[in-house]
Amino acid sequence: MTSYKLAASVLAADFTRLGQSVQEAQDAGVEWLHLDVMDGHFVPNVSFGPAVVAAVRSVSTLPLDVHLMIESPSRMVERFAAAGADVITVHAEVDPHLHRLLQQVRATGAKVGLAVNPLTPLAVLEGALPYLDLALVMSVNPGFGGQEFIAGSLARVEALRRMRDRANPNCLIEVDGGVTAANVKAVVEAGADVVVAGTAVFGGMGPVADNVAALRAAVGG
Ligand code: DX5
Ligand code: ZN
Repeated sequence: MTSYKLAASVLAADFTRLGQSVQEAQDAGVEWLHLDVMDGHFVPNVSFGPAVVAAVRSVSTLPLDVHLMIESPSRMVERFAAAGADVITVHAEVDPHLHRLLQQVRATGAKVGLAVNPLTPLAVLEGALPYLDLALVMSVNPGFGGQEFIAGSLARVEALRRMRDRANPNCLIEVDGGVTAANVKAVVEAGADVVVAGTAVFGGMGPVADNVAALRAAVGG
């Protein structure tokens, strides 16, 4: 039986009823909530900050997986930890001093994640593996939900899986972007331990419980 976690990305939820959407995802059995923080600089979109993370924290006991798509994350990581983040993931592309940044995240008490964009060499993750709890492979260009999965991402996940098994078997591999019922099985089989889904969970195609059930059924037992 394949074991993986589903992380529901609230970016695709209806923000006018965020609390109910989070509750629906929790009731549907998702293991994590994924929170996409965007600054309008590193990515061409703005989403939300620590206040919304704290609001989600106040209505859910699920692990909060905070994905920082922001420049200069070193200025903000403590605030996200204080807001209730369980995992804080920073992008490899934003800071030349990654070792220091990862140590800073570790010092907050949150789990440490590092993300790479679709064409960023995996070598940066490989080098960082000893310091990581989570390695995030972006399968779309970050900034927006509802984009198409970049097919070459599967080979990157497979390669990262081999690196992870050698260097740090405790590090989880997360895949983020464009995951649907049509490709989630391939994503899990490639090596994802945590699968992020926004549109496929909260999109307008039906109740959240049905959407989650469709993703689960697609992976199978
Ligand atoms: C994209 C975000 C993703 C996004 C995924 O920049 O990092 O987490 O919410 O949304 P879907 O599942 O719709 O591609
Ligand atoms: Zn994300």
